[in-house]
Amino acid sequence: MNTLIAASVLSADFSRLADEINRLKSADIIHLDLMDGHFVPNLSFGYPLVSCIRGLTDQPLDAHLMVTNPQNYIDGLSRLGVSWFSFHQETVYHSHRLIQQIKDHGMKAGIALNPATPVNTLDSILEDLDYVLAMSVNPGYSAQSFIPSAIAKIKELDRIRKSRNMDFLIEVDGGVNAQTSPALREAKADILVSASYIFGSKDYDKSITTLKGQ
Ligand code: DX5
Ligand code: ZN
Repeated sequence: MNTLIAASVLSADFSRLADEINRLKSADIIHLDLMDGHFVPNLSFGYPLVSCIRGLTDQPLDAHLMVTNPQNYIDGLSRLGVSWFSFHQETVYHSHRLIQQIKDHGMKAGIALNPATPVNTLDSILEDLDYVLAMSVNPGYSAQSFIPSAIAKIKELDRIRKSRNMDFLIEVDGGVNAQTSPALREAKADILVSASYIFGSKDYDKSITTLKGQ
């Protein structure tokens, strides 16, 4: 499978949002970082902006919930046309129930792992997941430095999915750029999320092509 690129709008210039989204034509997915100032020490945006972005593009929307109550947003985000929904393993007691609810709403279901959360916390739920989101920075901000231990985590996830014959996708998020992406593709990450590298460049399409390794 070709590597998919999810452009995170966290680093976009919101005063020119239509133009920014328009320049992401080669991105496979638009990544939406939703933060509550509680699970992470930052606020980002909510339904009004998601709705606005939905009106600007037909590209699939991938919501990354960095909030302590992700269950409260399943219905609202599915109504807004979000098709990928991930929540953090560290935030919920009943991840199995949540995964079923996300799927019942017609969305792909994923679980995100902080850099310090081991893969084995997902052992009993992996076969129910459409994707795993491995964080390669501590969540909350764009433009942080890549944490190299993410590479071993991606390799471990790939090894498990092969040995257990599973088909969940592996998404990696944080510090993805021209320097870090080759090792991530080699480790078999399927989806690379990027904010500051894409939006900090002159030619977004060219940066996306670089991340894909083309
Ligand atoms: C961090 C977010 C990321 C962030 C990535 O909490 O989940 O999606 O936007 O930003 P970069 O690509 O700049 O590290
Ligand atoms: Zn994210």
